Amino acid sequence: MLLRLLLLVLLATVPVHAANRMQQFLLGLPKPELHIHFEGTIEPGTVLEIARRNHLDHFPYGSVAEIQQRMGDAKDLPSFIRVYEELLSVIRTEDDFYEVAMRYFRRVRQQNVVYVEMFFDPQMHTARGIPYATVIAGLRRARQDAAATLGLRCEFILCFNRDRSAESALAHLEKALPDRDIIIGVGTDNPEDAGFPARFAPVFQRAAAAGFRLTSHCDVDIKGSGENIRDCLGLLQVERIDHGVNVLDDPALIARAREKHTGFTVAPALLYGPAPGAVNTFYFDRCARAAKAMLDAGLLVTLASDDPGIMCSQYVGEVYVATQARLDLSAAEMVAFARNGFAMAWLPAADKARYLALLDAYVQHFPSPESAAAP
Ligand code: HPA
Ligand code: ZN
Repeated sequence: MLLRLLLLVLLATVPVHAANRMQQFLLGLPKPELHIHFEGTIEPGTVLEIARRNHLDHFPYGSVAEIQQRMGDAKDLPSFIRVYEELLSVIRTEDDFYEVAMRYFRRVRQQNVVYVEMFFDPQMHTARGIPYATVIAGLRRARQDAAATLGLRCEFILCFNRDRSAESALAHLEKALPDRDIIIGVGTDNPEDAGFPARFAPVFQRAAAAGFRLTSHCDVDIKGSGENIRDCLGLLQVERIDHGVNVLDDPALIARAREKHTGFTVAPALLYGPAPGAVNTFYFDRCARAAKAMLDAGLLVTLASDDPGIMCSQYVGEVYVATQARLDLSAAEMVAFARNGFAMAWLPAADKARYLALLDAYVQHFPSPESAAAP
């Protein structure tokens, strides 16, 4: 009864801007988001506002158009990360961290995201002189307010930058130990450089011993993608892989991931590529098709957004809509992505069951999403 009431309230309050029933169904679907970088949630308009507020007179960009033009310099992951670090350098105070996170939470709540596991990169901030304590204080307050005012639960995942040293990773893990109540896991991001993943094995062991859950990015179609996935499963003992679509290249790896119930968070929206400033349609197609193939192969795969603010790309609801439209997937397939997301979430079993029941109730009460009629 309580569940039904909650569902009716949800259906009534989620503002959905959808052109057809399927879009409405997907935007209103109760969803988890498990692959979102805090640093990638900042939108160009917010970059400007915060730069002005912090009196950063030497910040070189004066308009959203200029920032978007700068984003066009991102041609690949290393150049993207350079632009990313430059733009997010405007975030300085606890309030800045709070506000960027809250803006993201408000935005995705409108797409019925009910649970978020959010990556954050403390090394990117401490390297430019922002204390770890400032970062986590802002994120902690945003997490609290998202729960209290939006009914949105968020937990954090500390990411180690793969282009920084393992010593630095370990030092940041130690800083994070007092915040284990809100940081539930560790992961890796930034470019996969030589020595990945082996050189992170000791810090992952330390993280596991301290009770953190383990995931790692394995980016798409890079040299050594397959070996990196294998070594993340073996050497790092990860439970999830972020992206990781190259698992499909090796039947033995597929079998191993299936057996271990490894979770995959596939994020098809990417800004850089052949047409700077627009979603890379080749990459989107590549990853969306891979996600569907992973589903068909019996892998635990969900859809995610990655860096939707800074890339001006798609938040997770829009990723669901675009993936369905691109591949003409069924409602049941789309629901499977959301269900898998809750299943692989690092939540206590009872909380997981509650989200899954919410999902089931929504699906049961939404009349024929596949019908062509307008909402
Ligand atoms: N891969 C690696 N590093 C990143 C990513 C990613 O998808 N997004 C933000 N940092
Ligand atoms: Zn990512």
